Amino acid sequence: MTNAISLLQNKLEGYKEYFSILSYQKHLRRIRKFQPVILSLKRIIMMNSALKQYKESSMNSNFSRNDKGHLLIEGIDTIELGNRFGTPLYVVCEEKVRNNYRNFKKNFTKYYDKNIVAYSYKTNFLPAICTILKNEGAWAEIVSALELSIARKIQVNPSKIIFNGPCKSDEVLLEALRLGVSVINIDSLSELERLSNLIHKTGITANVGVRLHNPFEKGKIPSRFGLDIKKAFTACKLIGKNQRMNYRGIHIHLGTQITNINSYIMIIKYAADFMANLHSKLDLNTIFLNIGGGFPSHQKPLYAIDDPWPAPSLKEYASKIGSTLEANHNKINYPYLVLEPGRAIVSSSSYLITKIVAIKSIDRAGKWIILDSGLNIVPEAEYFYYKTIPASHHKGEREKVHIGGPLCMLEDIIGLNRRLPKLQEGDILVIPDVGAYNISLSWQFIKPRPNICMIHKNGVELIRKTETVDDILRLDSIPKHLITNQIAKED
Ligand SMILES: Cc1ncc(COP(=O)(O)O)c(C=O)c1O
Repeated sequence: MTNAISLLQNKLEGYKEYFSILSYQKHLRRIRKFQPVILSLKRIIMMNSALKQYKESSMNSNFSRNDKGHLLIEGIDTIELGNRFGTPLYVVCEEKVRNNYRNFKKNFTKYYDKNIVAYSYKTNFLPAICTILKNEGAWAEIVSALELSIARKIQVNPSKIIFNGPCKSDEVLLEALRLGVSVINIDSLSELERLSNLIHKTGITANVGVRLHNPFEKGKIPSRFGLDIKKAFTACKLIGKNQRMNYRGIHIHLGTQITNINSYIMIIKYAADFMANLHSKLDLNTIFLNIGGGFPSHQKPLYAIDDPWPAPSLKEYASKIGSTLEANHNKINYPYLVLEPGRAIVSSSSYLITKIVAIKSIDRAGKWIILDSGLNIVPEAEYFYYKTIPASHHKGEREKVHIGGPLCMLEDIIGLNRRLPKLQEGDILVIPDVGAYNISLSWQFIKPRPNICMIHKNGVELIRKTETVDDILRLDSIPKHLITNQIAKED
């Protein structure tokens, strides 16, 4: 047994890179305690084969270089981009956003043409990206007052706004009512009550849907989203009885990076039974069957290793979801299938150009490359494997390095045990696939957020400027009694 445990421990050591620090320590503790040794072994074997496939697929990534050996994004020299706009720099490609959307829409339309694609704003709500998608015909899926304001600012037609989320204030509900958004998907009975009070006061008629809780969830953290089936039925009954509420449909969202298509199939069948019940018992017709987002991007999750990887193709999602709807048509009578993709549309549209600021070797801690970007602007690096590609072409031997960011935090790691050519301070690295939950989730911690440029058919232009010190301090103030004479004089 001791041998088996030390074998597992050694194996785990080799895959440290692919676990977040926390989950690595957790697994180590589990193994030490002889707890689910078999489970850990199974996970390691699965991870081993998934990583092999991932590494093979990532070797084939089709980046081209110019005659100077510099990496190109859409034909543009990444080193020149870094010099022109400074690093770190996010680069968004208009064509990629557009093509990803078109590809998504085309796949689902082929297998179920009565569909609506509503882009999930939270995934990346840069107005330039949301405008491309609006112009392509995408609807907007929003979950907050801020996102509603962005949608209004870029003039999304309210009839193409879907309002979700567990935290809608009376103020924002009122705004959504006045605008006449396509549907407000309520997330609790108390929210429905508040909405009903507002409707009563204002006399406005609302389009209302109900978010269903996913009963098949197997994650360790219990989900707080949606209503269980009984409460959802009660909610629909109340909506049906209210003269000023139009029942529109069901909303479900499984989570993000869902690589098991069966999860969608199970929840659709579950929703179909519920919809049939609503029809037979309450005479309610479901117009929207909204199955949310979750369609995957290229990132290999670092430790969700029970899920299939590489992820199935979009075509497989679309064909299986389409055929499930077809097979259940007698229960659901061909509603609009609403999809709320986020990462599948924007993840691959964006890159980060980042500079090496220091290289050092530490006894027992190995060789480290320190970048001017870390988890503050690639927060998803904590959960996913992000490639780091040198912008200049380097021949010769590769060496094992760890890659860290500029934050004074142990966890600020972009990758461990990477094999990279011998690089120098000042060299540029390019990190692809940063379009989802990085820009919108970036934190302004000890450093301002960086410039963002867009590559489009007319060239390259800034779509968001880096924050200045004045931007960051603009909203702060110091209570008068704390200001000493000295500070006052200096001012
Ligand atoms: C309700 C809802 N819809 C859509 C999405 C988008 O998910 P994804 O980016 O995985 O497609 C999310 C994100 O978590 C969400 O909460």
